[in-house]
Amino acid sequence: MNTTNQTQESEISDEQYEKQATLSVWRSCHGFSERHKKNFGECSKHPQWLAAAERLKRVIGTGAVVCLLGRRGTGKTQLAYHGVAHYIVGLKRPWMDKIYSRPYQKAYVTAMQFFMKIKATYGNSKDSAEAVITEFVNCPILVIDEIQVRGETDWENQMLTYMMDRRYSSKKDTILISNQKRDAFIESIGPSIADRIRETGGIIEMDWDSFRAE
Ligand SMILES: Nc1ncnc2c1ncn2[C@@H]1O[C@H](COP(=O)(O)OP(=O)(O)OP(=O)(O)O)[C@@H](O)[C@H]1O
Ligand SMILES: [Mg+2]
Repeated sequence: MNTTNQTQESEISDEQYEKQATLSVWRSCHGFSERHKKNFGECSKHPQWLAAAERLKRVIGTGAVVCLLGRRGTGKTQLAYHGVAHYIVGLKRPWMDKIYSRPYQKAYVTAMQFFMKIKATYGNSKDSAEAVITEFVNCPILVIDEIQVRGETDWENQMLTYMMDRRYSSKKDTILISNQKRDAFIESIGPSIADRIRETGGIIEMDWDSFRAE
């Protein structure tokens, strides 16, 4: 960052800063689909979903590994979107500045996208798998959706565990989302990640009917 930019940033008023902060919610939520860019008010009519949102909000910002489990259409991705937005608006200014000044990895990816991004570096001399993983580690808050859509090979498990452990060590929040039942999820995610979930954010089970019309 050059000196001119630094001067400009230090001169903006708190009011201007608040406006920018709101804008940054949208920027930092980049990666979510248009469908999930709903206002919180539009989602607030379902008491159980709201209770899940309160639970998620309590652990966001604590360096949690938290998991959302539930059948199709129960609002898991929507909840993660609000979790990320909650994180961003709660940031203190120095952190907000960091978010502005760095081109972070998207806040939202599917497990498939995560693995494809790493695989794309193989045989490519420009990027390394380590650099891609480090981008994911550096992302201030990260959502990995559709965890159940993967091969569960040793390679995938090792990549996921390696990245998750580095995020856990640097106290960055990670939200994992799956359609699996609790026991199947714990079995497939492996003991290392399961332990970190237990210690920090826990599992939020979203056990109600789909929001999608029949
Ligand atoms: N609390 C809510 N109130 C109203 N609509 C909601 C709520 N939560 C989610 N929705 C809407 O319901 C639809 C399904 O939500 P979402 O995609 O988050 O479900 P999901 O659990 O992630 O489903 P899947 O497992 O298929 O990915 C979306 O259009 C979403 O915007
Ligand atoms: Mg979803």
